[in-house]
Amino acid sequence: MVVSATMEDFRARKRRGERLTALTAYDYPTARLLDESGIDIVLVGDSLGMVVLGYDDTTEVTFDEMLHHTRAAARGVKRALLVADLSIGTYNTPEEAVANAHRLVEAGAQAVKLEGGASHGAQIEAIVREKIPLMAHIGMLPQSVRLEGGYKVKGRSAVEAERLLQDARAVETAGAFSVVLEIVAADTARQITEAIGIPTIGIGSGEHCDGQILVTHDLIGLYPWFTPKFVSPEVHVAEEIRRAARIFIDRTHGQVR
Ligand code: KIV
Repeated sequence: MVVSATMEDFRARKRRGERLTALTAYDYPTARLLDESGIDIVLVGDSLGMVVLGYDDTTEVTFDEMLHHTRAAARGVKRALLVADLSIGTYNTPEEAVANAHRLVEAGAQAVKLEGGASHGAQIEAIVREKIPLMAHIGMLPQSVRLEGGYKVKGRSAVEAERLLQDARAVETAGAFSVVLEIVAADTARQITEAIGIPTIGIGSGEHCDGQILVTHDLIGLYPWFTPKFVSPEVHVAEEIRRAARIFIDRTHGQVR
């Protein structure tokens, strides 16, 4: 089966020390451009809630919105692995997790991601039993941002680092093919990366992870109102849009009837 070969390939790449690359896309052109650029993983993340839909955080994202954007991104991806997020409230039980993972796959995803470690082992096992590849996500969990009172670095204390290590081991045992480490202290991210066999994919977690993921809008400067501290945009697309719009406005105003 092509998908399981790809999953094994990710582990093999970790063993060979080859880094994995992942970026988000929520629409056809971005997904296609990233795919054509050679990215390994395209994630239809629920970060679309902020950077595309204008919500305050990911807790307002509906599952219909996830399906809609997964369908659009899937049309643009031919080569990369397309992963889609299970949005908040869609995986409270293993049964619910399986049903909604299938809906994302029907929308075009080849794998799904959910937030949680040991607490979500049953959901992960249930999804993997259905032969749907599962990417786990531990550390700072954006779907819990309101409970947590903000985006905070995880794994700074020895107790938190140990809990994260247990979470990483638990998701590996449950069958996840990779695990996102979000805003985890770099040294803890390194320890986790060395301790497990599946690739860690870091975001704001230092350079020792097996791969890196970013929200594309942050990388290309398309959401200028907020840029996470750990991102240095490579280009400033928002400025280019403003510039093009101003040229168009001035040209149009200057036209004679
Ligand atoms: O929703 C998202 O974009 C994510 C990444 C930040 C990992 O979960």
